[in-house]
Amino acid sequence: MRLLIMGDLHFFRTRLTPGEWLSKRMLGQTNLLLNRRHQFNHGLFPAMLERAMAHKPDAAILTGDLTTTALGREFADVQAALAPLAARMPVFAVPGNHDRYTFASARQRLWETVCGESLGAPASFPAMKPLGGRWHVLLLDSACPRIFSSRGRLGRTQLAQTKQLLDGLPAGDGVVVVCHYPLFTPEGTRISWNRDMAWRAALVEMLAASAARVLYLHGHIHQPWHLTVSADGTPFDCINAGAPCQTVDKNGRLWPDGQGFWIVDLPEDVKNMDFMLMHATGMTKF
Ligand SMILES: [Fe+2]
Ligand SMILES: [Fe+2]
Repeated sequence: MRLLIMGDLHFFRTRLTPGEWLSKRMLGQTNLLLNRRHQFNHGLFPAMLERAMAHKPDAAILTGDLTTTALGREFADVQAALAPLAARMPVFAVPGNHDRYTFASARQRLWETVCGESLGAPASFPAMKPLGGRWHVLLLDSACPRIFSSRGRLGRTQLAQTKQLLDGLPAGDGVVVVCHYPLFTPEGTRISWNRDMAWRAALVEMLAASAARVLYLHGHIHQPWHLTVSADGTPFDCINAGAPCQTVDKNGRLWPDGQGFWIVDLPEDVKNMDFMLMHATGMTKF
């Protein structure tokens, strides 16, 4: 079972109508014009998608932040850009905080509408779906609009339902958990309170205690990484998808081909965790 994993695409529009400025979007759009648009090159995307599909994945996973300020036109661009992918394979997606950037976009359920039509958004969260063999995918919703911060949230109800879903998995099964926010960061990378996810520790505890084998996929911090974490319980793997079209990151590191995508081969025997991790920018091997 081969997975293609893509992270923070952050499609954007630089021109807004006067009415579109009147919200938290003013902050996001200012940041976009001053910083973000110089750090992303979406012109790389069509060729990158071709390269990704050449690996013949069986399914694609999108870890959120498809848009920048959750504009309807950004969502339309995402839908058009990802149409070749959706036509070829099942897609599983979760929202990122930027996909519910304003309270109005969350209320209008823009992410649900667009992604529900073509990009594998479930009708409700948490959602567990079969992936193939003994593997399942568990989709979590951590994105909520905030006035100033980009803090995520899982919530008591979603966590209780997540526990029930995990408890229903036998020991010989594997689960790919998809959620926008990281559970852990590598040494030297800190995530501040206002960019972190509420209820993170509770999810870590739950995943470490699961009888099933866990692979956790996320984005949010625009820096690809793979970690094997040893929380109290069974160790599990975490992959940060990164931002496919980002060519210079916050630390000034250059990614001339973008941060790319991941290809992960899930083993048939879930006990054998020889994942093949391939960060396909052609410049970085993990
Ligand atoms: Fe992001
Ligand atoms: Fe994010």
